[in-house]
Amino acid sequence: MIVVTGTPGSGKTAFARELSLLLRAKYLDVNAFARKAGLFSEYDARRRTWEVDSSRLAKALRKAVLGLKGDVVLDSHISHFFPSRYADICFVLRADLKTIYKRLKARHWPSHKVSENLEAEIFEVILTEARQLGHKVQVLDSSRRSAGSLARQAIKNIRLIRKNTGSGSLPN
Ligand SMILES: Nc1ncnc2c1ncn2[C@@H]1O[C@H](COP(=O)(O)OP(=O)(O)OP(=O)(O)O)[C@@H](O)[C@H]1O
Ligand SMILES: [Mg+2]
Repeated sequence: MIVVTGTPGSGKTAFARELSLLLRAKYLDVNAFARKAGLFSEYDARRRTWEVDSSRLAKALRKAVLGLKGDVVLDSHISHFFPSRYADICFVLRADLKTIYKRLKARHWPSHKVSENLEAEIFEVILTEARQLGHKVQVLDSSRRSAGSLARQAIKNIRLIRKNTGSGSLPN
């Protein structure tokens, strides 16, 4: 189980897609999963975002993916709520503030939403949450490296971890 998380615009999806292609792994969009499962509990009208019920998400994700064979890549800014004891590694994507700003502005997001996410990146909200939840965290910066190059680096790191823990195999 490979968790990919980070602030919106940090490059998670580009990276997670490359990684799942290279690993021939299943790719799971955790946002879509949570939406379908009705786990976005409350609408915050001021922020215009949905709040996720993290403990229900953790349980539902565990149930959905643990029976699956092979590698699974979980992609979302909420994917670190997947229980850390079942995850091999958690990649936290980051990017410098200018890069995140440009990427979010390109989506025509309202200014307050862009600022809120820049603040989250400055205060390392997701990185801190992932560590506090007990994940084996590796930070990847997407500002100056392509998603493909980051995915190749990630595979080297996954191989090392699996060599040390003796779990599973990866395609060559
Ligand atoms: N390593 C990279 N190098 C250059 N551009 C990138 C890289 N990663 C992502 N991008 C670009 O940045 C934008 C945002 O990337 P992406 O959609 O992967 O972010 P995200 O973290 O998944 O955001 P969200 O949380 O909103 O889903 C996209 O236009 C994407 O093509
Ligand atoms: Mg994404």
